[in-house]
Amino acid sequence: MPAKYTLAVSGSTASQPRYVVVYPGSFDPITVGHIEIVERAAKLFDAVVVAVGHHPSKTGFFKFEERVALIAEACAHIPNVRAAHYSGLMIDFCREVGARAIVRGLRAAVDFEPEFQMALANRDLEPSIETVFLIPAPDKQFISSSLIREIASHGGPFHRFVPAPVARALERRYPQHYGGGEQA
Ligand code: COA
Repeated sequence: MPAKYTLAVSGSTASQPRYVVVYPGSFDPITVGHIEIVERAAKLFDAVVVAVGHHPSKTGFFKFEERVALIAEACAHIPNVRAAHYSGLMIDFCREVGARAIVRGLRAAVDFEPEFQMALANRDLEPSIETVFLIPAPDKQFISSSLIREIASHGGPFHRFVPAPVARALERRYPQHYGGGEQA
């Protein structure tokens, strides 16, 4: 018996509108923790836009364009993912790209309060756009971009926490430690 519903993973038909989601963040830089969330979101939804936003209290380490390029390179193996950046409100960007949900990773109890507040604020601003939380894998929960930048700034072994393009970019930033990005 034919299936009642068929779910398009990377395409769409007129009767099955694409379910586009935005995964926003600072991604300064993208880590293997983020990638794990992207891979899982890409299996759940038709299209995932990984979008670099501006956090008011964070001074950027990598430029916006560089972060977007690193995301695009690191996610090149996932066909229904694209990288972007936005200025202004995340919810406006979601509307612009026709997103139906925002995906956020929820790492630990400490993430809950700010995420809860942001989800409610976004819901107030645009009730039709949901926030979906994914719990990162246990071995990735402690990873954060600033932690990786700190390890790299001291010449430490950060490599297993980031995708290869990010590792090369960080090595280039600290040639005194890593020899200008020629190492694996
Ligand atoms: N794996 C690894 N690290 C993760 C992670 C995961 N799965 N999930 C979160 N993190 C880390 C990030 O690396 C980051 O670490 P850092 O603080 O060391 O850089 C930290 O968790 C949280 O950052 P992130 O998820 O990137 O969010 P953010 O708080 O930096 O930025 C924006 C949130 C960009 C979405 C937000 O500031 C924004 O869009 N601002 C625009 C204005 C707006 O719309 N605000 C919301 C109003 S309701």
